[in-house]
Amino acid sequence: MRALRRPRGPGAQPWPLLACVLAAVCRSSADGGAPGSPFTSLPVGQDSLAKYSNLSLQSHNISLTEHSKAVVEKNITLQKPSNVELTCQFTASGDPSSVNVTWRKDDEQLENDFVTSATGNTLYTQYLFTIINSKQMGSYSCFFQEEKEHRGTFNFKVPELHGKNKPLITYVGDSTVLICKCKDCFPLNWTWYRENGSVQVPLDVHVNDKYAVSATNANGTKLTMTHLSEEDQGAYWCRAVFPLGESRGRVELVVLSFLVPLKPFLGIAAEVVVLVAIILLCEMYTKKKKNRPDDGKEFEQIEQLKSEDSNGIENNAPRYRKHESVGQ
Ligand SMILES: *[C@@H]1O[C@H](CO)[C@@H](O)[C@H](O)[C@H]1NC(C)=O
Ligand SMILES: *[C@@H]1O[C@H](CO)[C@@H](O)[C@H](O)[C@H]1NC(C)=O
Ligand SMILES: *[C@@H]1O[C@H](CO)[C@@H](O)[C@H](O)[C@H]1NC(C)=O
Ligand SMILES: *[C@@H]1O[C@H](CO)[C@@H](O)[C@H](O)[C@H]1NC(C)=O
Ligand SMILES: *[C@@H]1O[C@H](CO)[C@@H](O)[C@H](O)[C@H]1NC(C)=O
Ligand SMILES: *[C@@H]1O[C@H](CO)[C@@H](O)[C@H](O)[C@H]1NC(C)=O
Ligand SMILES: *[C@@H]1O[C@H](CO)[C@@H](O)[C@H](O)[C@H]1NC(C)=O
Repeated sequence: MRALRRPRGPGAQPWPLLACVLAAVCRSSADGGAPGSPFTSLPVGQDSLAKYSNLSLQSHNISLTEHSKAVVEKNITLQKPSNVELTCQFTASGDPSSVNVTWRKDDEQLENDFVTSATGNTLYTQYLFTIINSKQMGSYSCFFQEEKEHRGTFNFKVPELHGKNKPLITYVGDSTVLICKCKDCFPLNWTWYRENGSVQVPLDVHVNDKYAVSATNANGTKLTMTHLSEEDQGAYWCRAVFPLGESRGRVELVVLSFLVPLKPFLGIAAEVVVLVAIILLCEMYTKKKKNRPDDGKEFEQIEQLKSEDSNGIENNAPRYRKHESVGQ
């Protein structure tokens, strides 16, 4: 496919590209010479592929037919600079040479920096370029205009972070760990923020010993928070910086005071105490009424026991009993 006719756009001019290290620098210096298309300054084509030959190559393809959905999308995760080869394949119902093939990045038309060929009634179009900065991330689409328009779109994104969907519930005085991670990712940097209204304020993890950050693997970060108070309740954000952009994840922290979960329990307990007290009072009252006539007998019995007890002390073990009474 590489051997195909390759229309050369203005972007293929080698001299401004090779002179530039950063595409951003490149862009501003090339703008004067080639107004209209910002992509003329991007490193596209074989010249730059040679320059970036030690970057890895990402190949992706989309297959379209007359009957496929109007838009077929593919999400592609990319974190570091790479050479990219995008291919769209379209099976035409009629004459493939009457199909208008174009490419766009987001809403901007890409000039002729792509190759198109036909085999039978199948059209192939391929766009080769290098992504070296975050501005080049986004959506790249191929369009096939026959009677209807068909589009294949490749969405380039940095890896997403996985925080927590559900709030994390903790209690005052406890410690907790907020976790943020991404799959198969190698961020340059992790940072934690606290949400305050619409702004995200970086946490001063080195100053405030309430916070401690650890990242055992590069693909995740942990924020340990100790001595939680109700003021710590709120939303926290983690940010990962990749060579081609950044991603953020949100974790919601709820800090409950101990009384909150106890409240319903305390209510029930109070009711039970009142009921038990009423029952006991009633019982005591009725018992007292019943027992009143027997009061004299009871007194006699107690007297009897007392005298028996004193007999025992005299007859059996006076020393032992004395010792026991000291202990009491
Ligand atoms: C690519 O090559 C350049 C110089 O030849 C080197 O500085 C750079 O580290 C290489 N990059 C990778 C990803 O190997
Ligand atoms: C298209 O990509 C898939 C993987 O995404 C691969 O299996 C397939 O061989 C590719 N097709 C072409 C024609 O390159
Ligand atoms: C691509 O990502 C978008 C937004 O994240 C999502 O809505 C869409 O379903 C994804 N498409 C595919 C094919 O995964
Ligand atoms: C192909 O589409 C482009 C953009 O929509 C348009 O400028 C061009 O005139 C079309 N070419 C043909 C042959 O239809
Ligand atoms: C993170 O990396 C470690 C090894 O470095 C690996 O065991 C683990 O599965 C990775 N986790 C994710 C979510 O990618
Ligand atoms: C990590 O991010 C912070 C804040 O953006 C920055 O000050 C620091 O230099 C970064 N570290 C690395 C290794 O990129
Ligand atoms: C949030 O911002 C306001 C005003 O900037 C400040 O007064 C307040 O202390 C901040 N709250 C936290 C928790 O940082």
